[in-house]
Amino acid sequence: MPAQRKLFVTTALPYANGNFHIGHIMEYIQADIWVRHQRMQGSDVNFVGANDAHGAPIMIAAEKAGKTPQQFVADIAAGRKPYLDGFHIRFDNWHSTDGPENHELARQVYLDLKANGLIETRVIEQFFDPEKNMFLPDRFIKGECPRCHSKDQYGDNCEVCGAVYAPTDLINPYSALSGATPVLRSSEHFFFRLSDPRCVQFLERWTQDGRLQPEVANKVREWFTVRENADGTKSEGLGDWDISRDAPYFGIEIPDAAGKYFYVWLDAPIGYLASLKNLLDRRGQDYAAYMADPALEQVHFIGKDIVTFHTLFWPAMLKFSGRKTPDNIFVHGFLTVNNGEKMSKSRGTGLDPLKYLSLGMNPEWLRYYLAAKLSGRNEDIDFNPEDFMARVNSDLIGKYVNIASRAVKFVPGGKLTGTGASLAAIDASALCESVRSLYESRDYARALREIMAAADLVNTAFDHAAPWKLAKEGKGAEAAAVGSYCLEMFKVLTACLRPVLPELATQAQAFLKCAALDWSNAATPMGEGHVVGDYKHLMQRVDAKQLDALFEAPAGEQAPAGQPAAQSPPEGEASAPGGEEIAPGITIDDFARVDLRIAKILNCEAVEGSTKLLRLTLDVGEGRTRNVFSGIASAYKPQDLVGKLTVMVANLAPRKMKFGISEGMVLAASDADDKAGGIYVLNPWPGAQPGMRVR
Ligand code: MSP
Ligand code: ZN
Repeated sequence: MPAQRKLFVTTALPYANGNFHIGHIMEYIQADIWVRHQRMQGSDVNFVGANDAHGAPIMIAAEKAGKTPQQFVADIAAGRKPYLDGFHIRFDNWHSTDGPENHELARQVYLDLKANGLIETRVIEQFFDPEKNMFLPDRFIKGECPRCHSKDQYGDNCEVCGAVYAPTDLINPYSALSGATPVLRSSEHFFFRLSDPRCVQFLERWTQDGRLQPEVANKVREWFTVRENADGTKSEGLGDWDISRDAPYFGIEIPDAAGKYFYVWLDAPIGYLASLKNLLDRRGQDYAAYMADPALEQVHFIGKDIVTFHTLFWPAMLKFSGRKTPDNIFVHGFLTVNNGEKMSKSRGTGLDPLKYLSLGMNPEWLRYYLAAKLSGRNEDIDFNPEDFMARVNSDLIGKYVNIASRAVKFVPGGKLTGTGASLAAIDASALCESVRSLYESRDYARALREIMAAADLVNTAFDHAAPWKLAKEGKGAEAAAVGSYCLEMFKVLTACLRPVLPELATQAQAFLKCAALDWSNAATPMGEGHVVGDYKHLMQRVDAKQLDALFEAPAGEQAPAGQPAAQSPPEGEASAPGGEEIAPGITIDDFARVDLRIAKILNCEAVEGSTKLLRLTLDVGEGRTRNVFSGIASAYKPQDLVGKLTVMVANLAPRKMKFGISEGMVLAASDADDKAGGIYVLNPWPGAQPGMRVR
């Protein structure tokens, strides 16, 4: 075992504009497993997180919710605990980037960079919303794509044709906040001079000296040679970084610069230090002394979308403000659910972590499943329900948990006998050392494969020795030796699984009556004469019904237009669900004449002169697009529908309308009296492709 290490570990600080989604939980589980493994080898770890509170989107969301940004963020913060506790994610501290420590530290870092000659100011031109009286972030400027002319595209890229451009390239730009036409205004901005040769030289070494994952280092190397500018042109080398924003902004004020705030990504990573400082202060420990210890290792777990911030800006900020630089950045890929699209950062689709818990599903199933997929590389992984059930039921329970219940029956009074020769070809010390080092390199997938391979060997040895036969043949002592051997191995496997399954390991330790398992005692036998306790069932199997319930759409989305499925209808409405009677019966052939297809809404816009209609541009997989008018303007804003899938009648005769020709019909549900329940456009489950027939 390596000498005791001193570690400062973080996960990315989630924006405080929404609840956790399953992608966040995956990141925390990955880091939590690593931290628990470190503690098992005696490392002294501080593992901290915090909410990322600042920035324009949060300020705007708060305003919409009618709250101050502080209140808005506090409300989100109040909801964090059930997720973290629920999945056994044990941060030592959870703080906020709006805390006093962060205000203080961010100012100091900035002043130190400035004293080092790395801050400069420049006047730049940007879009300004004359109604809201504020400069607009790219995401809040919309307009017509300069390339494909789709309406309502964002200021930085077109979701229809994929073009990347500057907000000033948009045709007829408008503010997504007020609808006003933005005007160009100049303002003084602060820049971190990342292009300074000192920074470039430092970063070229820091990112390429072998510490980063190879796939990450390779990606980063490209940024040193070519850089894409906002207007699509390319420049050489690292560009300077704009670190200021103008008021109104929810953030930290820049010292001696009235009305100027730090851009959220400047103070966000400093929030790592702020959370640590808050923890140490409360413990009465000295933050400066802690950070000054040359033995301290600092590592950050993050997703692949925020690599630039963590491998360029962040190390450079620390280095040139005279601070300790990170020892490593551990990058993971994205989690998808049911092969679905990458989960939206704000919406998070697919698997709701709190719903998972509320259905009584065991959090350690998820920990085990995700660990079995995490290899320590930054590739994406997918949550697949069948795979989930198979791995938990057949591997975790079928192979590991069952060893205990099978073996203990043959050990009278739970008193271990000498186990004689090893029954299976398992070298416990070698197994533990291999698994330990796989955790170290975050290859949990391989660690679990090795553990399960060993569990297989134990089960095979058990079956081969057939202690139930031995017992019948009056060879009770031999049967007890087999049982004892398997319990010893169960203990070794429990130690190996403990970082992933902390609760199960605690229960197993209680059953085995052994000391808390760590890497120093994992391979040591409990020994002859050790008495284990009574076996109590350790873990339930996954039930397919739970998974069905987990992925069932919430009631509101499933039965939108007044179909109280399970409830009995009010008097007199029994035969008129949704406000109208079921239509006369048809045959399957009648139905087949209606050709329903999955359609992708490529574009959607208001129709001038109509308050009812929206104009949709649909892709039905035909290699051309269709123009369809739909009377849904009262229920949807055009931008709500762009990019979504729906269902359309594809063989309806084209119809000439006042505004143009409609080439089909989009399906939507509504109550007969549609004011009552609203209008709900149909949306297929993820995975459906444009052009697929609905039958
Ligand atoms: N606030 C910034 C991070 C600041 S760190 C100083 C941010 N927040 S976030 O909420 O959008 O993302 C937080 C973390 O969750 C990031 O590491 C991100 O990569 C990760 N994930 C977001 N969606 C994810 C998946 N679908 N799958 C896995 N991780 C995901 O970025
Ligand atoms: Zn476009």
